[in-house]
Amino acid sequence: MSDTRYAIVTGAASGLGRAIAVRLAQDGWHIAVADVNETGSEETGRMVTEAGSTAQVETLDVGDEQQWVSLRERLRADWPQLDLIVNNAGVVVSGAVGQTPIEDWDWLLSINLRGVILGCHTMVDWLKENPRRSHVMNMASVAGLIAPARMGAYNVAKAGVVSLSETLYQELKRENVGVTVVCPWFVKTNLLETGRFADTREKTAGAAFMENSWLTAEKVADKAVRGMYRGKLHVVVGFRANQFSSCKRHFPGIYFALSEWTQRRILEPIWSRGTK
Ligand SMILES: NC(=O)c1ccc[n+]([C@@H]2O[C@H](COP(=O)([O-])OP(=O)(O)OC[C@H]3O[C@@H](n4cnc5c(N)ncnc54)[C@H](O)[C@@H]3O)[C@@H](O)[C@H]2O)c1
Repeated sequence: MSDTRYAIVTGAASGLGRAIAVRLAQDGWHIAVADVNETGSEETGRMVTEAGSTAQVETLDVGDEQQWVSLRERLRADWPQLDLIVNNAGVVVSGAVGQTPIEDWDWLLSINLRGVILGCHTMVDWLKENPRRSHVMNMASVAGLIAPARMGAYNVAKAGVVSLSETLYQELKRENVGVTVVCPWFVKTNLLETGRFADTREKTAGAAFMENSWLTAEKVADKAVRGMYRGKLHVVVGFRANQFSSCKRHFPGIYFALSEWTQRRILEPIWSRGTK
């Protein structure tokens, strides 16, 4: 048992994962930066050191079960305990159901949903062994709560992550393992660069939402980590994310009417700009 706290952060080579790794480092956590992007991971490792803590880079494809098992075995040989797994790695696919190729559904689900399932499945018993309180943090999205049109694959995966986290929360409560699921609004990261889009105008619309968002990766990371420390299950980040998700929960008729209006008055004009 060590005073240092140990965390694995997936998708930590960029964006929200990197910001969460740096935020945890400010509190002295040792971080395993787990990502497919080794160059980005090395950079995050340097940022963690600058923030006053220590990091190790671990190459991991979250969709590969064998790589998860090897990661756990490597870390167990070195670490006194595991205090936190952050299942954050993700990609984006957009397009209407029927237009999104099935290969793109499979690609997204293997990372955004199966990757999170594998992270929980592989690490949960190790977390339970921790005599102190330990934690699972899963990165979902407001999309998992409000299901925007033309984002079916992404919505399904993120709603699955919310459901998995709520299930785990109940299963782990008496094991002294906390669970937090983070549902942010749009925030500017590299997500669109690796995304797959049925129509390039959807990338333009996504970029417009990111550009117009007041959130930063650092702000999301701070809310997520504070929420975890407070033992919160749901951390919905951003004024609009809170507004839309509570509107859908309490007044679904109004929400779907508003969503239709947004498509016609906001998204379609952005789309037509994208064709010029
Ligand atoms: N940016 C947003 O607007 C937003 C909003 C809500 C939720 N999210 C979620 O936040 C998470 C992080 O995304 P981001 O916005 O920081 O994007 P990003 O592209 O900046 O970072 C994603 C990271 O995941 C890594 N990754 C991708 N596939 C992987 C795999 N198979 N195995 C391991 N690592 C892999 C990438 O290399 C990258 O470092 C995702 O789950 C995303 O869905 C993003």
